[in-house]
Amino acid sequence: MSETEVITTAEATEFDVVVIGGGPGGYATALYGASAGLKVAVVERDKVGGTCLHRGCVPAKEFLETATVVRTVAGAKEFGVQAGQPVVDFAVSQGRKQKVVDQLFKGLAGLMKGRGIVTFDGIGTLLPGRRVRVEPTDPDGVVTGAGAIEITGRHVVLATGSEPRTIPGFDVDGRLVLDSDDVLALDALPASLAVIGGGAIGCEFASMFSDLGSQVTVLEALPSLLTGCDTDVVGVVARSFRKRGINVHTGVTVTGHSPNGAGTTVGFGEGESVTVDAVVVSVGRRPLTEGLLAEGTGVTLDDRGFVVVDEYQRTAAPGVWAVGDVVNTPQLAHVGFAEGILAIKVMLGEPAFPVDYSRVPWAIYCHPEVAFAGLTEAQAKEAGIDVVVKKDPYGGNSRARIVGETDGLVKVVAQRLPDGRAGRILGVHMVGPWVTEQLGQGYMAVNWEATPEEIGQFIQPHPTLSEAFGETVLALTGRGLHVG
Ligand code: NAI
Repeated sequence: MSETEVITTAEATEFDVVVIGGGPGGYATALYGASAGLKVAVVERDKVGGTCLHRGCVPAKEFLETATVVRTVAGAKEFGVQAGQPVVDFAVSQGRKQKVVDQLFKGLAGLMKGRGIVTFDGIGTLLPGRRVRVEPTDPDGVVTGAGAIEITGRHVVLATGSEPRTIPGFDVDGRLVLDSDDVLALDALPASLAVIGGGAIGCEFASMFSDLGSQVTVLEALPSLLTGCDTDVVGVVARSFRKRGINVHTGVTVTGHSPNGAGTTVGFGEGESVTVDAVVVSVGRRPLTEGLLAEGTGVTLDDRGFVVVDEYQRTAAPGVWAVGDVVNTPQLAHVGFAEGILAIKVMLGEPAFPVDYSRVPWAIYCHPEVAFAGLTEAQAKEAGIDVVVKKDPYGGNSRARIVGETDGLVKVVAQRLPDGRAGRILGVHMVGPWVTEQLGQGYMAVNWEATPEEIGQFIQPHPTLSEAFGETVLALTGRGLHVG
């Protein structure tokens, strides 16, 4: 049963803002616009919440939490707690995941309705003149065949998101070859799995399935996992994966796969192969723009199909904006939120600053977790910046010892001043226990362009994991307590 409301009367078709796509980019635009008193409509062909809520961030992190519970129970005897060897009933895990998703969906749909946002269940197509044709769909996203209606916005925001990319020779069939959508809907755990692509999604799935008991092989084309993360951070993740028995092959090209009985054999590298129950393809996502634009809208796409926007989210067509995964910026829900807020502010003529994509927060929920903001050491050096770097491993942190999660470190990259001291903080990179929840201070430091002296005077409660950040910054002042 859809929680959304369909309005098809002719008098209810004029809006200040029409948003096509109700994922994080779209619903943030709608909520922020409605908070500012604008009359907002959202056209959503499936369910508001989008990939993030239904097929991405939320269900993936929910399963990763199941993996954490398994690790905790497996390690309980170290604390003198006899819990036995954990056994996963994946159908129950699926049920819990779905309950979390359903509750959040209901909350979001209710929130939107409460703010007076009108949600049209249907497929939206932008027509010239900021008109949007809506082809009605049922709660499963299937076109109903009821006549299309047209609505108009003083502004139209394109927020149709992205879908998983595929690679030749690996046709996704939902059984042997899975994309991230399929993985999150599995009803049983595969005993063995090859993950193609060692980016954010690949590492999260590899970590999760390994913790849940599957034998995992990661096949990554580039020389390392998690390209774009600081190399010290990647090193910690790679070591942890190795220790847990995950086979990681980097710098390898996959050559195809041959199904055999219940599983399939994946070829890679120089004649190597691995036989597995299932293959997960996580090689990036592509923008979803098929059918989005009618002739003559004036909106332009780049050669990879992303909607082209300026730094204020404006497309080439006046009054038409685009936010979220459909534009070529980091494909993160919170970046979509920021772009939606920015677009609304600019529409309202308020002071607004473009999103600084080099300093957005990143959070990757594999075990150990990864979180960072700002330049890596290598990126700073490539940009010709002389840097001072300090690191604090979690091994020396009391709370990390207490919780028994000592793999990881905090690394802070600062600009080197002419006198050799550390100046502005350029990047904060964390890997280890709960770092996705700890990044806040580092994100602020980078974006406030703070110096170690400014941040170093703040007190971190003891014993906490966040002391590692405080210690690292204090060390950058030249006078660390525990870090030299
Ligand atoms: P990605 O672009 O982060 O990683 C894809 C990886 O696949 C790359 O390392 C690439 O070198 C590799 N690859 C590409 N073709 C290959 C091939 N034929 N054989 C082997 N390896 C190949 O994309 P991913 O992980 O699919 O994520 C999609 C988007 O969603 C990304 O922008 C990601 O940042 C975002 N995301 C972020 C999360 C987070 O921050 N926690 C979680 C999940 C997704």
